Amino acid sequence: MGQTSSIAASLCIALAIMQNCPSVVAYTWPDPQIDLLESIRFQQNGFRQYGLAFGVVPCHSMANMQETGRSDSAEWFRTAYHDMATADVQAGTGGIDSSIAFETDREENKGKAFNESIGFFVAFHSARSSMADMVALGALFSVESCSNGEVMIPFRGGRQDVTEAGPLGVPQPQEGLDSHTAAFARQGFNTTEMIGLVACGHSIGGVHGSNFPEIVDVVDDIDNQASRHDFDETFDNFDNSVATQFVANNSQNPLAFGHNETTRSDFRIFNADGGDLIRKMAESQQFFWDTCSTLLERMLNTVPANVKLTEVIQPIPVKPNNLFIAVNRNGTMTISGEVRIIEDGTTSADREVTIHLKSRTGEPISIDPVVATTHEELQVHGYYKNIPSFSSYLFSTKAVSTNTGISSFDIEIKDGDNVTMHQNNGQGYPLQDALLVQKEGTCTRQAFIGRDSNNTLEVTAAVRDDMAFESVQLWVPKPVNMIGSLSSRFEPTAVEMTKTESLNGTGYSLYTGSFWFMINSVGPMKTFDLVADGPNGMVQNNFTKWADVPICKST
Ligand code: HEM
Ligand SMILES: *[C@@H]1O[C@H](CO)[C@@H](O)[C@H](O)[C@H]1NC(C)=O
Ligand SMILES: *[C@@H]1O[C@H](CO)[C@@H](O)[C@H](O)[C@H]1NC(C)=O
Ligand SMILES: *[C@@H]1O[C@H](CO)[C@@H](O)[C@H](O)[C@H]1NC(C)=O
Ligand SMILES: *[C@@H]1O[C@H](CO)[C@@H](O)[C@H](O)[C@H]1NC(C)=O
Ligand SMILES: *[C@@H]1O[C@H](CO)[C@@H](O)[C@H](O)[C@H]1NC(C)=O
Ligand SMILES: *[C@@H]1O[C@H](CO)[C@@H](O)[C@H](O)[C@H]1NC(C)=O
Ligand SMILES: *[C@@H]1O[C@H](CO)[C@@H](O)[C@H](O)[C@H]1NC(C)=O
Ligand SMILES: *[C@@H]1O[C@H](CO)[C@@H](O)[C@H](O)[C@H]1NC(C)=O
Ligand SMILES: *[C@@H]1O[C@H](CO)[C@@H](O)[C@H](O)[C@H]1NC(C)=O
Repeated sequence: MGQTSSIAASLCIALAIMQNCPSVVAYTWPDPQIDLLESIRFQQNGFRQYGLAFGVVPCHSMANMQETGRSDSAEWFRTAYHDMATADVQAGTGGIDSSIAFETDREENKGKAFNESIGFFVAFHSARSSMADMVALGALFSVESCSNGEVMIPFRGGRQDVTEAGPLGVPQPQEGLDSHTAAFARQGFNTTEMIGLVACGHSIGGVHGSNFPEIVDVVDDIDNQASRHDFDETFDNFDNSVATQFVANNSQNPLAFGHNETTRSDFRIFNADGGDLIRKMAESQQFFWDTCSTLLERMLNTVPANVKLTEVIQPIPVKPNNLFIAVNRNGTMTISGEVRIIEDGTTSADREVTIHLKSRTGEPISIDPVVATTHEELQVHGYYKNIPSFSSYLFSTKAVSTNTGISSFDIEIKDGDNVTMHQNNGQGYPLQDALLVQKEGTCTRQAFIGRDSNNTLEVTAAVRDDMAFESVQLWVPKPVNMIGSLSSRFEPTAVEMTKTESLNGTGYSLYTGSFWFMINSVGPMKTFDLVADGPNGMVQNNFTKWADVPICKST
């Protein structure tokens, strides 16, 4: 069903016949399931970049400088397959769920690749970006980078992390064809698809003597300390040479022509249909890429039956970010933030971006125009083709009276004569002013005690008095280490905030709260939420990144 409906959805968009496609909903900001993942996916190199894609650019790069003969791209890709390989699609269990993080000591998961991949992904793991999504995204970036964007895999988010190991079931090279066919059938791939998926997987990287000395020799080479024997002539290029070399009987691939006949699993698999598919993959680079793109998307979207993935995450053309409202003691407030705008070729050199604020009651606020500005350092680009570039525009409003308040804003973009008012599907970009993080009075601190770190957060919030909140809480998704895994789980933890001051004449009071936790090493991405509740309703101010508030001055 997924396949057909996603094709139907892209047709709807392509043909702009939205009224006939009720299931296609245009993106509206904010979307807690999409926004962070979209940034990690597309903000690759430049302003507010997320360094996940960086790990596999160029394709041969390796974060671990201690050992040559390895590459992160191949390891991240293999990690995703080994995470998925224990799935049972009939039973609706397993898939990409980061269970691999608990399974690194198994015979079927030999090598350092799995822990080191998870270790790299930790920095991007948060309450809104699961480790399982990072496992999928890591493999996706690998294939995209190693094909220089020739193979682009649609990315959906929403995978969920498990907190314990799953069953055994990763195919091993000494097993027979029947066993492999059965394993792939359990994973949801028939014989033809098995051949395709293995050929796609074994397009980059190789077999390491350090992991499989019975398959390839351990060599004494300072440039190849892990004794990698490449699958094909281009271990760092996602191309079809694994197929062309196989069809040409070139003996390079150790899993096809290695000295140990028992472990020639690629040979048995590639011949499982009489050599038909591998020949087609050898004949056409494009056919190879298309086959891989389809199969890999399915591999990465294999999740337990109870997990529902998001729509395909597309670049958001106009996206606010990093918004803060400061309540000033003189009865005004200052709204600051950024607007990230896609570079789609319509940008003029004299582009003007203006923010139009609406008051608490929804009226346009008449103050001097709020002009957002950009410069070179505020751009972000993709590392390979088919990733768009963006420019961010920064703004900080003139003082708005706290009696006036704010409820939303529109974004006007003027490119020469072309003026477009962006209104977020008509409703404006919403911005509540009842429960506000005050950067002044908010800070974080990280202190190391051996390998562990003590992470402290001190928060000051401005709270609107007329809301008459009965409780104002600071929520931290506290990361907790798990035994047997380098990943962590999040434990939502609440702290009651206390009123410390009335800001006379502003209609606001200040509340403060603090929180600390210990975690092994640096830990995942840290965020916090504010939640206030009372007779006039509940207000949430969620997902402020610790990294976006100041560091505490040492005492
Ligand atoms: C019957 C199925 C499979 C078997 C028996 C198998 C076996 C192996 C073995 C023994 C290695 C060497 C690992 C090392 O020395 O570090 C390897 C590497 C690799 N496999 Fe597979 N594999 C299979 C299917 C797949 C699939 C379906 C994918 C992905 C779609 C995949 C992706 C990779 C990658 C990327 C590497 C290179 C790792 C590196 O260079 O670090 N494999 N495989
Ligand atoms: C596997 O499924 C594909 C469709 O995804 C089909 O084209 C192919 O013939 C099938 N192969 C076998 C061996 O059933
Ligand atoms: C070939 O591989 C099998 C399975 O891993 C192993 O038991 C055997 O010892 C290997 N043979 C040689 C000659 O290395
Ligand atoms: C490769 O080897 C097979 C089996 O020995 C043979 O049928 C085929 O013709 C060979 N292909 C080439 C290109 O030499
Ligand atoms: C109020 O304070 C803010 C922030 O300190 C300042 O930017 C603004 O000019 C002040 N406004 C008035 C009317 O004093
Ligand atoms: C005007 O701007 C809109 C929105 O950015 C864009 O879709 C459109 O192509 C532009 N028109 C021209 C003539 O550049
Ligand atoms: C962590 O730091 C906080 C203050 O920042 C302190 O109160 C707490 O005792 C520290 N915890 C440990 C275990 O050192
Ligand atoms: C991976 O890390 C986990 C957690 O520290 C550990 O239990 C496991 O033994 C490690 N696996 C390998 C192969 O080093
Ligand atoms: C603010 O108002 C409160 C109560 O109305 C009063 O006790 C306090 O002294 C005032 N503070 C300032 C700085 O004016
Ligand atoms: C906001 O944060 C609170 C506390 O962590 C949580 O209960 C709530 O589900 C969050 N809401 C959204 C939309 O993320």
